[in-house]
Amino acid sequence: MADRKARLTVDGLDKTIEFPVYSGSMGPDVIDVRTLSAEGLFTHDPGFMATSSTESAITFIDGGKGVLLHRGYPIGQLAENSNFVELSYALLFGELPNDEEFNKFERTIRNHTMVHEQLANFFKGFRRDAHPMSILCGVVGGLAAFYHDHLDITKEEDRTISAIRLIAKMPTLASMCYKYNIGQPFNYPRNDLSYAENFLYMMFSNPCEEFKVNPVFAKAMDRIFMLHADHEQNASTSTVRLAGSTGANPFACISAGIAALWGPAHGGANEAVLNMLDEIGDESEENIQRFVDRAKDKSDPFKLMGFGHRVYRNFDPRAKVMKETCDEVLAELGMADDPQLKIAKRLEQIALEDEYFIERKLYPNVDFYSGIILKAIGIPTNMFTVVFAVSRTIGWISHWNEMISSNYKISRPRQLYTGHTERDYPAK
Ligand code: CMC
Repeated sequence: MADRKARLTVDGLDKTIEFPVYSGSMGPDVIDVRTLSAEGLFTHDPGFMATSSTESAITFIDGGKGVLLHRGYPIGQLAENSNFVELSYALLFGELPNDEEFNKFERTIRNHTMVHEQLANFFKGFRRDAHPMSILCGVVGGLAAFYHDHLDITKEEDRTISAIRLIAKMPTLASMCYKYNIGQPFNYPRNDLSYAENFLYMMFSNPCEEFKVNPVFAKAMDRIFMLHADHEQNASTSTVRLAGSTGANPFACISAGIAALWGPAHGGANEAVLNMLDEIGDESEENIQRFVDRAKDKSDPFKLMGFGHRVYRNFDPRAKVMKETCDEVLAELGMADDPQLKIAKRLEQIALEDEYFIERKLYPNVDFYSGIILKAIGIPTNMFTVVFAVSRTIGWISHWNEMISSNYKISRPRQLYTGHTERDYPAK
């Protein structure tokens, strides 16, 4: 029971409506307005600017302070000391694993990396030049057709096995999207490799040459996976929850999440950043300033991609780690003078000193530097959002599992109707 109450008076309504106020373990309190519809009223919050859609114990963000915690652990500490598989366990099951739990979990993931051989036929239906995100949406949704032996979402065991299948198969499917695109044969996963190594192996090896995974790339890849793993109720996660609230199977829900992630305001931003840096091209001061000025000009649709965030109003803690990783990878590769990195750094500097960006609290987000690292690793620009989807699958499926394990209702928002009032169909 909530001790505190919020009270609402509405002109024309001769009573005060009371709502309970709940406190979480951290973060803003919420006013539970669920009983409001009984009064013939709805709250109106397009874009969910002030709406909590669910209770969750997975991830916490304090946008003002630049804090991101997964299961209570700060992202900086996780990036430094953990790895993607360990973080996946914590996101899915609530606690970090002990050694035995970790080994078992990792082994299980390794044992599920292959996809059904028949799935390769799906790829052949796509044009070779199809965007890999469109292929990924399709084939992930199609997984339900192959793994419906464990699709009783009311059973914890079935939910867990579906989660494991998704985490394990996403790198395989992502690399198949790439191989299909460039016309090379698909690679089978190698289960002696770590999660990140295996992804790089499937992406870049071919049957004609011996391939050794570069350990610097594998470390950077693992970090990119970790930094994108979850971000509480973002657009794609909310999409997964909304689709899941109908009882749809997890593969269909994750496919919906992938579709939502694709947009340039969300996961598509990493691809858009690289395209923007390409477009800027020349590192001269006047040229970079010209693009900053365009971003400030309201009559120009151009925005600084990789800048701004709905929740972070101070800095994005993921961007800090990403920038360090970017410096590490490029230094290791002898590419510290990379022209795109130089443009990105100068762009960041100019924007951070500009009144427009300061006033609006616009800072580089996680995607500002991730593209430069991915490019250095050799991943083509159109695969960037696919990599994001591979990382975010654990977040999506953890939220889906949390919702299905709880007492949830179908998500069904209402509206402020502004169309015609009732009218008669014209006589003919
Ligand atoms: N460049 C120039 N101006 C911007 C930018 C930008 N990148 N982002 C926001 N603004 C301006 C915006 O025009 C508005 O100005 P005004 O108040 O004068 O109208 C003000 O800042 C507030 O922006 P908003 O669009 O109302 O903020 P939002 O919370 O609705 O949108 C956002 C957040 C991330 C969609 C937006 O900042 C954006 O489009 N950024 C570029 C795309 C991007 O990098 N997205 C990745 C987000 S992080 C990864 C992820 O979550 O997937």
